Amino acid sequence: MVDPNDDLMFSNDPPSGPLHVVNVDPWKLLIVDDEEQVHAVTRLVLSDFEFEGRGLEFISAYSGMEGAKRLMEHPDTAVILLDVVMEFDHAGLHLARQIREEFNNHSVRIVLRTGQPGQAPEKRAFLDYDINDYRTKTELTSDRLFTAMVGALRNYKDIQRIKALYEQVKAAQIGTVVAMADLAEYKDEDTGEHVMRIRARSEALARALAEQGAYAELINDTFLELIGTASILHDVGKVAIPDSILRKPGKLDEEEWKVMKTHAAKGENLLFKVAQMVPGPNVLTMGSQIAGGHHEKWDGSGYPRGLQGEDIPLEARIVAVADVYDALISKRCYKKAWTADEAMAEMRRCAGSHLDPVVVEALERVLAKERAEILG
Ligand code: C2E
Ligand code: SIN
Ligand code: SIN
Ligand code: SIN
Ligand code: FE
Repeated sequence: MVDPNDDLMFSNDPPSGPLHVVNVDPWKLLIVDDEEQVHAVTRLVLSDFEFEGRGLEFISAYSGMEGAKRLMEHPDTAVILLDVVMEFDHAGLHLARQIREEFNNHSVRIVLRTGQPGQAPEKRAFLDYDINDYRTKTELTSDRLFTAMVGALRNYKDIQRIKALYEQVKAAQIGTVVAMADLAEYKDEDTGEHVMRIRARSEALARALAEQGAYAELINDTFLELIGTASILHDVGKVAIPDSILRKPGKLDEEEWKVMKTHAAKGENLLFKVAQMVPGPNVLTMGSQIAGGHHEKWDGSGYPRGLQGEDIPLEARIVAVADVYDALISKRCYKKAWTADEAMAEMRRCAGSHLDPVVVEALERVLAKERAEILG
């Protein structure tokens, strides 16, 4: 992962570290079955098994519940050979569902092993429970178990490769976004760590809202995943504002203020154009909404559009709260830094006029949590 706090653009150090490490670790195979005999036979039959130069590490569990425990200890398990009937009738199916839905593990390949061949519930289970293969226990002969394992590991390897690629693309994207924000920030010397705090607080605010069930129809997993990175872009429009205005020590005159206010729409337009080169909702489309909406006010008196209440995109209302709070507690070329208590009092005063009151409420909880973490 890219650490966004690194100065990506102006680092003098060459990239280091090995690019390719040959993995010789064994594949982890978890056997979940209440019959000791099944464990013994499986280990025996697969004792010489190798796939792509890597052997197997056997992990045993004797109930569905123990299987869940072992998988938590070994989240990098590649394949599970799973019995259906254990401590209760469908303990294996229950575990399969738990793995996908609760542990959110979609990588591990689940091979169901049943005692009674061709039973209807198991066929349905194959579809309903996201099970990857299903074998009867009589198929414990070496040949069939061998082919089942090769097939499962091939699929597992493909999934791991796609996941690694996705992580790489995501890291590159965060890097690009940070570089864009840096370009805008270098003009505005006051802001320094400002965007990184906005990133953390915007993400925390979205999570806090989700936890209390607020705006549930807007906050989904994608929203939670994108908002932190997208928030970094809220002020990119400042690239277009002259330094003489950005760094003016005192109050802006009317003409200067008019120019300053254009940073919101300029950022929105810039990001909107770039976003159109990428299909689907992504960090740039959300960044565009945030840049365009972060100076709108709940009562409709903001800019650039004078939008009101929930007409302001939620992501922009969230970033507005993070941005204003940070502006208050920070020293700017035109103002002193306020204390945390003074700032929160001002936030409360602005709730319902400038800021979304529900988001300000969430800020109280986020700050309380931050404080608790600092105190240990
Ligand atoms: P900023 O300094 O990061 O402030 C962000 C937002 O925080 C402001 O957006 C405003 O909504 C809120 N904020 C800042 N200080 C206070 C305060 O004392 N009380 C309250 N209630 N809210 C506060 P706004 O006003 O749209 O300004 C946008 C940007 O324009 C500011 O970002 C800053 O870069 C610049 N700016 C605003 N006023 C002045 C000024 O008097 N002089 C200079 N040089 N720049 C200014
Ligand atoms: C479950 O999926 O949680 C229970 C499995 C079953 O009994 O069908
Ligand atoms: C900043 O000074 O970087 C934030 C101010 C704004 O949100 O316009
Ligand atoms: C959105 O873009 O998040 C929807 C705008 C709203 O909050 O109503
Ligand atoms: Fe701004």
